[in-house]
Amino acid sequence: MRRPVISTNLAISADGKISSSPPRPSGWTSSADYQRLLDLRKTADAILIGRGTLEADRMTMVVPNRSPQPLRCVVSHSGNFDFQHPVFQRPGGHIHLLVTGAATTASSSAAGYTVHHMSLLGFLEKLATQYHVARLHCEGGGQLIKALAALDVIDEFHATLAGHTLFGGLKSATPTGIPAEYLPSSLEFKLRELRPIPESGECFLTYQRSR
Ligand SMILES: NC(=O)c1ccc[n+]([C@@H]2O[C@H](COP(=O)([O-])OP(=O)(O)OC[C@H]3O[C@@H](n4cnc5c(N)ncnc54)[C@H](OP(=O)(O)O)[C@@H]3O)[C@@H](O)[C@H]2O)c1
Repeated sequence: MRRPVISTNLAISADGKISSSPPRPSGWTSSADYQRLLDLRKTADAILIGRGTLEADRMTMVVPNRSPQPLRCVVSHSGNFDFQHPVFQRPGGHIHLLVTGAATTASSSAAGYTVHHMSLLGFLEKLATQYHVARLHCEGGGQLIKALAALDVIDEFHATLAGHTLFGGLKSATPTGIPAEYLPSSLEFKLRELRPIPESGECFLTYQRSR
């Protein structure tokens, strides 16, 4: 199957959580972390997020001073998109909405966005073959990253270790969502970069999937 090279990026607290309850929006760590988020976005032909992250973080998935802008892709099972959300108002890359279940509010495409009804794997293939997406960058959340991990399609895993914060919380999402079932099998990665940022008490990490 043809698919893009897929990278992910998350900020992770000292206790392995990506969010607190109530949810923290992206940018909760440091300005250096935010800059890294933008730098990683710049490398991508398309950005991918789950509908939970779209809602929690009010993201518009735009890269400042870049042309063309990356495609903006959002994954949902329910198709329950809020078309008043800022992503539909702010100019940027074309929006692709993947609906994996029976569609409700977002059943057909309109100006500015295209709706796809298929599986996540089918969508990855479509991005590569029809939209020429060579690099796809996923910014979470945990539920979506878990689905990508279950398909074993994550090639690069970027993390900001925010060791200065503990979230706790039984229902606080981790990089693979709210703890539940194991992945079909464990995935191993090789460390490619380890960059401590003493000023903020954080560490930037990049892992490469070893297959
Ligand atoms: N620390 C960080 O770097 C970071 C990064 C991103 C997000 N977050 C935080 O993480 C929290 C969200 O985590 P989450 O795990 O709930 O987020 P998520 O994966 O973004 O959202 C979950 C929702 O996305 C859709 N979805 C995800 N995977 C899917 C799949 N394989 N197939 C179909 N639909 C899928 C579903 O939407 P429907 O309900 O529409 O079916 C699901 O309910 C937020 O608080 C956010 O702020 C933190």
